[in-house]
Amino acid sequence: MNWSAAQIQAWESLALGPRWQMKNAAPKQAVDTPTKASWESLKQAVANCQACPLWQSRKQTVFGSGTELGQWALVGEAPGAEEDLQGEAFVGMAGQLLDQMLLAMGWNRSQDLFIANVLKCRPPGNRNPTPEEASACAGHLQAQLQWLRPKAILIMGRVAAQHLLGQDVSIASLRGKPQVLTIDQGLQAFEVPALVTYHPAYLLRNLEDKAKAWEDLNLFAEILRQRQCLP
Ligand code: URA
Repeated sequence: MNWSAAQIQAWESLALGPRWQMKNAAPKQAVDTPTKASWESLKQAVANCQACPLWQSRKQTVFGSGTELGQWALVGEAPGAEEDLQGEAFVGMAGQLLDQMLLAMGWNRSQDLFIANVLKCRPPGNRNPTPEEASACAGHLQAQLQWLRPKAILIMGRVAAQHLLGQDVSIASLRGKPQVLTIDQGLQAFEVPALVTYHPAYLLRNLEDKAKAWEDLNLFAEILRQRQCLP
């Protein structure tokens, strides 16, 4: 680092002895201003990704779904068979339930939000992502969130909650408690309110918890209102 005269003067006033700086402090990079081209380049990076072995079994990558111009984001787990086939997130049975839930709230995936997953490739047999797969894919989700700068994030299911919050705990213990995610963005970081709820695939098997998911969506609507995303 080159020190300016004012910096040297300020340093000397601290009386910390000879000037030094942390050896391993990696220089932080500024993130590009979001543009259509930079969003397209994220898509290309996902389409070409071979960072974990899932590229060998996928039919195609699933970048996400919805609109990158929406005000908020939803994060799920990983593509299933139908998503792998169509290249779109949440288009199978779970996706149809998700669309009904969004619609009931007055939201629409093509206008209001972007839907991303922790993994961009289908794990064979729809097994849970391994920690290695999730960490190999983490940069893609982080880049999407950096670009989107969502005003709020709805986290669906335990895998997504574990990945984004770093806590492997039940949805029952997380739901109803708004969280704050810190997204590192080059020279700065930004904070996004987030809420955890049940994954729609879980709700298809546990109909009795749909009422709790409805409560969660209403609480999330409150967060969107506070963030001026809703009237
Ligand atoms: N489940 C997910 O978590 N994501 C999808 O895209 C589809 C099913």
